[in-house]
Amino acid sequence: MHTIAVLPGDGIGDEVIREALRVLEAVSAVTGFAYTVERYPYGADHYLKTGEAFPDSALRAMQDHSAILLGAIGDPRVETGLLERAIIGGIRFGLDLYVNLRPIRLLAEHLCPLKGVTPAAIDMVVVRENTEGGYVGVGGNMKKGTLDEVAVCNMVWTRKGTERVIRFAFELARQRGRRKRLTMVDKANAIRPQDLWTRTFEEVGRDYPDVERDHAYIDAACMWMVKNPDWFDTVVTDNLFGDILTDLGAMLQGGLGIAASGNIHPGKVSMFEPIHGSAPKYRGKNVACPVAAIAAAGMMLEHLGDREGAALVEKAIGAALRTRKIPSLQAGAIATDAAGDAIIGEIGTLAAAAG
Ligand SMILES: NC(=O)c1ccc[n+]([C@@H]2O[C@H](COP(=O)([O-])OP(=O)(O)OC[C@H]3O[C@@H](n4cnc5c(N)ncnc54)[C@H](O)[C@@H]3O)[C@@H](O)[C@H]2O)c1
Repeated sequence: MHTIAVLPGDGIGDEVIREALRVLEAVSAVTGFAYTVERYPYGADHYLKTGEAFPDSALRAMQDHSAILLGAIGDPRVETGLLERAIIGGIRFGLDLYVNLRPIRLLAEHLCPLKGVTPAAIDMVVVRENTEGGYVGVGGNMKKGTLDEVAVCNMVWTRKGTERVIRFAFELARQRGRRKRLTMVDKANAIRPQDLWTRTFEEVGRDYPDVERDHAYIDAACMWMVKNPDWFDTVVTDNLFGDILTDLGAMLQGGLGIAASGNIHPGKVSMFEPIHGSAPKYRGKNVACPVAAIAAAGMMLEHLGDREGAALVEKAIGAALRTRKIPSLQAGAIATDAAGDAIIGEIGTLAAAAG
């Protein structure tokens, strides 16, 4: 029996997670995936009521679950970034979830903003380093608010941190078996210390002679991803570059309303979430697109070993999009709960067809 920690969070988090949980229930009825859910209240409302952002006890509680499903964090009533750092950062860093896995697949041709690109052309996965780089908080401001202000932010990479994420990406490229090509994306020409990545990539790559080693600087990678998305299969990159590159990737899939991610430490409790934020302006309006949160639940199923359930979620999302039962991923294109209904309906159809 799996126990899932659910943190709906802020803004539209509650509504999109509600749909993800309904889909999970529908999948479980088909595949027998056995689970219980424990909800946690962390987010802006809880913080404003209690002054508590994300206590140590919450992090300890997360470790007792099989996986974590997160909605979104961030609220304009609270200082920018405070809750995001405490909760998302707290979980990613606290549980050492060093892989941020972001699949980028085009499920329905009409959703792609590029001309003439078919679903076969967009099927890649970005492995973003998730615990180092510019997000570690090494730096600060001096003489803040004056004309003499100095702001410093260090990008921190360790050999161990770099190696483990690169190794994960090589394993994934091998396992995907699609092109067996791993593209490393960095900026080691301008940020010279990042050649730690280049050297580690070459060294680790020798253990994977069957995987083609490919390289692009981040600026060129953004260009190639638009010009020739079919080139990419598996991509490995630093925390900041991965953050940016995967928003571009989300657009190739149709928008932030569909893009999901896993924050993973292989073999340990991991967290799954849509890559979008809390979109506060849509809170409580039943207009947010829940597909990304549903796709995140699908990734969680895969991680927990229910491959059949994960495939069912992906097929059902694809069918609901291709038939335009979910006409687009824009807010308000369809009510949040109606989008959930459409995907649950497709799960029923797929399960009936499979007998
Ligand atoms: N992992 C996270 O929880 C996470 C990620 C990014 C941003 N944030 C936080 O979210 C808050 C809002 O940030 P933002 O506006 O930069 O990013 P956002 O992702 O919330 O919104 C970006 C744009 O996409 C739209 N959008 C997002 N999700 C959507 C959905 N499911 N359906 C339809 N439209 C959707 C929004 O309305 C907005 O126009 C901030 O507090 C930010 O720090 C949290």
